[in-house]
Amino acid sequence: MSRIAGRIVAEQIRDNPHSILALPTGNTPKGMYDFLVAQHEEGRLDCSSLTTFNLDEYWGLTPEHPSSFAYYINEHFLHHVNVPPAKTHWPAVSGPPDEAAAAYEASIVHAGGFDMAVLGLGINGHIGFNEPGTPFDSRTHVVKLEKETRQASVRGYYGFASPEDVPEYGITIGIGTICEARKILMLVSGSTKAKALAFALEGPVSTALPASALQQHPDVTIVADEAAAFALARSKKRSIT
Ligand code: F6R
Repeated sequence: MSRIAGRIVAEQIRDNPHSILALPTGNTPKGMYDFLVAQHEEGRLDCSSLTTFNLDEYWGLTPEHPSSFAYYINEHFLHHVNVPPAKTHWPAVSGPPDEAAAAYEASIVHAGGFDMAVLGLGINGHIGFNEPGTPFDSRTHVVKLEKETRQASVRGYYGFASPEDVPEYGITIGIGTICEARKILMLVSGSTKAKALAFALEGPVSTALPASALQQHPDVTIVADEAAAFALARSKKRSIT
């Protein structure tokens, strides 16, 4: 799964070395980043013209904090490839929330929007930190994280000891901005995501399941493992695997 996702991103970078990418963090894309780093180390992937934007961040966690998404993307990807630091972006996590959000949105617009947005999927169907109920035309905003999202952060990669340690708020690129990406690649792994994936692809398009917004996008690729694809209808499953 990571190899397939990695190949798709590597192809995007080779086809357009100036690509502007939105990048996810979390457990799911770790293997994809390993693949991309290996490609770079083998001299097969040049990232010197790439621009990257992290999809989201815990409000209040600066890049030095080991649980921050900025720390993650540096550790797993950016410190091992040659994206110029000036072309790597993550949102501010302090100050007036509306100003931080507007500044990040403006930097995305200034860059020209995303050639490819790479996404993971939350158990509750979130993309980025766009929790259920987020309007589909939303732009970068600060959001109160759901209990389920904070619990998943404890189980996941980020090293929080309990849900109370997880920041209450996050800042995320909005669904509207994500869906304006020219291409979308979503990675989904594990049985805990099966229900959300089935609803996202086969359920009604509804803000109750943020990832269902992808049904309206003309160029979406889903890379899912068997456990995550388990609940999909047979025909969909065949076209996905
Ligand atoms: C993280 C992000 C989130 C995660 C999602 C799945 O940057 O945007 O939407 O992609 O919560 O996380 P994992 O992969 O840890 O299950």
